[in-house]
Order: sequence, then structure tokens, then C-alpha cells
Amino acid sequence: MDNKEFSKPANRPVLGIESSCDETGVAILRWEPDAPGKGLLAHTLYSQIKLHADYGGVVPELASRDHVRKLLPLIREALAQAGLGVRDLGGVAYTAGPGLVGALLVGASVGRALAWALDVPALAVHHMEGHLLAPLLEEDPPEPPFVALLVSGGHSLLVEVKAIGQYTILGDTLDDAAGEAFDKTAKLMGLPYPGGPALAKLAEQGRPGVFRFSRPMTDRPGLDFSFSGLKTQVLLAWQKSDQSEQTRADVARAFEEAIVDTLIIKCRRALEATGARRLVIAGGVGANRRLRAELVAAGEHDGFRVYFPRLAFCTDNGAMIALAGAIRLASGQRQDETVQVRPRWDLQSLPAA
Ligand code: KG4
Ligand code: ZN
Repeated sequence: MDNKEFSKPANRPVLGIESSCDETGVAILRWEPDAPGKGLLAHTLYSQIKLHADYGGVVPELASRDHVRKLLPLIREALAQAGLGVRDLGGVAYTAGPGLVGALLVGASVGRALAWALDVPALAVHHMEGHLLAPLLEEDPPEPPFVALLVSGGHSLLVEVKAIGQYTILGDTLDDAAGEAFDKTAKLMGLPYPGGPALAKLAEQGRPGVFRFSRPMTDRPGLDFSFSGLKTQVLLAWQKSDQSEQTRADVARAFEEAIVDTLIIKCRRALEATGARRLVIAGGVGANRRLRAELVAAGEHDGFRVYFPRLAFCTDNGAMIALAGAIRLASGQRQDETVQVRPRWDLQSLPAA
């Protein structure tokens, strides 16, 4: 390995590893500042959905063990897709948090050790920064300043992005995250894990106006979210109902409308408060079709533009981690040789990129 190449890590492909929860994702990306998506050379993903389905949720120990099984084969597959050998890599980026500690340790250990063996720099990536930057992988990427709505299984965040790495949290969830609310509500209506996408699919068959749930915390100023009460409202409505298939779809529709409306009300407030005209949506719930369509309509009405990643890059993936890592490696940042993960990690504590 030629150490002089260190001076130009930006020109050599970066391996990205995601293993924070129940998806193992690997990608290879060459940093192209003007069109990051063009630099994406490969991405592979293995979802553990089937593994956890019998338990109705993610079992952390099983997740860690499965990342151990899948990570190296996925890295080999990504290298083959890109037509590269492991020695062509110029850096390794891995999710270091937030997430499940055992799952994170698998990606961090493999990523850090691989970088050490190849004598290339490593970068510990914040999972939510990965989500936040995912829309940059698309054509005509958004430029800061913008507001980002990050809605995943673990987080519901409204973030003001003044520049890459300069994040101010405008709103957070006080209890359940948006994705968690989808998953828990789906479970109490008897839908299989993972409930979010299943509930969204069912909602498509629901009739409008049969049920109506509240839009939590929209009747007072502020940008925080609270979704756990909504879950209780749904449970009561569902228990009192005839529990037919059509009713289930009607309840699902009303629940989805309540979440989507709430998110849109808060996004509008955040745009108004910051004066931003660009809104980025990312994270698993960003794959929700109603949310995407209604946000675009709100943007057309109010005069702001909405940016989404493609569906596959809304949910967890290696490409967003490779991208976040490549940006920071290109600006000279490095992880030292310790293998360190942070199950909890404040997005606002990141250095500027
Ligand atoms: O970002 P992600 O893949 O993982 C985390 O970092 O949490 O998000 C997963 C979450 C799950 O709660 C899942 O139910 C939700 O995103 N989700 C959806 C949809 N697709 C995934 N929620 C609503 N509608 C969808 N279409
Ligand atoms: Zn995620």
C-alpha cells in the first residue's frame, strides 16, 4: 500500500459499513463533490427481517450474530460489483452509533480492522448524519442551508442544517419515534413485524373519514413530537370496533393521516422559523408514500422544495454511510485506532465537515 496516496483519499473509493440495527449494508463510493450519486460504485444489503419476525421485534443478540455472518460476504460482493480489489480502497467508514451496541461493534470492529490492515484512514459515522445526507446521492442534490426531517424507527428529529456537520436540533420526540409508532400500532392491530410498511400498505385500502385521530402537540407552539398517545387512541378505537378487515384498513388510514399531518405541520413551522426554502426527508418513514406525496403538495403550495432519497436509501443502507464517511475523509478527518461505538450520540456534537 502506497502511503503517499493518503494525501488524496478523496480520489480513492471509500467502503461504507452499516450495522446499527437489523440491516447489514455495504457500499463503495468514490467522492465526487458535484454529483455524489455518480460516485456510488456498489451497494449491497442484507435485511434480517425474517430472523426477527417470530419475536415481533429486533432481538439484539441475534442481530449482532447475523451481522457477523453477513458482513464479510457482503463486502466481497460489493467489491465484485464495483470491479475492485480490497487494496483499491482508500478509506473505510462505518456506523459507530447511535444503535444497538453489539450490532454496532460488528461493523466498527470489521471496519476499523480492515482500515488498519490496509493502512488507509477510517471514519466513525453518525447513523443519523448518514440518513440526513442520503438525498445527496440523488440527482440535483440539495445544498445547505436546509431543514431535515429524520424519521426512523429510533428517531423523529427536525434538524436545521446550516452546513454539512453543523446541525441544530429544532424538534425531537418526547416518547415514541414516528417509525416506532407505526410499528407498535401495527402490532396491536395484529400485523406482522415489521409493522410500518405493512400498516402503510393496509392504509391504501382504508376509506377516508371513517376514523379520526388527533394530531399530537400541534395545538401549541413548538417543534417536538409525541406519538405514544396516538397509539393508545388507535388501540381503543380498534378494540371497540367490529375488527373486520375493512375496519382495520380504515383505522390504518386514519392513523397514517394523523402521523403525516403532524409531521407536515411541524415541517412547515420549522421552515418558517428558520427561513429555509429546502426540506430534506430521510429515514425509514421517509419511504411512506402518503408522506412523500403530501409534502410535495405542501411545498408546491408554500413555495419550498422537498428532497428525498430513493426508497432503498430511506431505510438503513451502506451507501449513506459511505457518503458521510467520504465527505469527512475528504476534509481530512480520521478515526484513531480504537474501536469505539456510541449507542447514544448527540448529532449536534459532530465537528463541521
Ligand atoms: O431508518 P430505518 O430503516 O431504521 C432505523 O434507523 O430505525 O427505519 C425503520 C423504520 C421502521 O420503524 C419502519 O416501520 C419504518 O421505518 N418504515 C415505514 C415505512 N417503511 C419503513 N413507516 C411507514 N411507512 C413506510 N412505508
Ligand atoms: Zn436508520
